Amino acid sequence: MINKIERFVKEQMGEDVTGHDWHHVERVRNNALLIAAKENAGDKYIIEMAALLHDIPDEKLNASAEAGREKLDSFLASLGLEGAVKQQINEIVYSISFKGGQGTELPSFEAKVVQDADRLDAIGAIGIARAFAFGGKKGQPIYAPELTVREHMTLEEYRSGKSSSINHFYEKLLKLKDLMNTETARRMAEERQSFMEAFLKQFYREWECDK
Ligand code: ADP
Ligand code: NI
Repeated sequence: MINKIERFVKEQMGEDVTGHDWHHVERVRNNALLIAAKENAGDKYIIEMAALLHDIPDEKLNASAEAGREKLDSFLASLGLEGAVKQQINEIVYSISFKGGQGTELPSFEAKVVQDADRLDAIGAIGIARAFAFGGKKGQPIYAPELTVREHMTLEEYRSGKSSSINHFYEKLLKLKDLMNTETARRMAEERQSFMEAFLKQFYREWECDK
């Protein structure tokens, strides 16, 4: 079953270069399983399947949100899983996005683990690389020094140069550590957080020509 899902996800996400590629999914799966093992809790089978499928319906990777939903639905139907298992996977996948997940209680421990693993992949060295890859693809500047940091920017503002990938750190990336659901992920996030802080400090120093 896991092999089948892996093959499908590789085929669906292989070409993306904005940080939503197969390797992102693989890291999320591996970190989710690591968190579950350290916490000694959760259904590993559900966690692995949901982690593998978590970005399949993402609007950014489909013609529309509806098309994404249909893609996941028809794939899950083709697997012949039990209804309860299918429902657990769906609940996880649709509850863990940054916007959807904020402030609302997640439906299960398994959802918390997959969300933590997805968030870990948005911070640290990998998170930095993904932010600039995403920003480049969207055509937004690396940094816009004339702007003060703002916590809510629209994609339009990013695209029009009224924001920057550096701003995204303040909007989202630096906040993720304190939003972790599990103690294990919070501990894993600490080193990544210090690394991002050191990166930003060095970035500004070089921007100012080492003044
Ligand atoms: P995921 O689906 O993996 O939870 P997103 O779809 O929100 O995450 O974003 C994918 C990657 O692109 C993440 O690493 C995220 O930080 C980055 N990203 C999203 N929006 C922006 C932005 N406006 N500027 C720079 N990076 C961004
Ligand atoms: Ni993801």
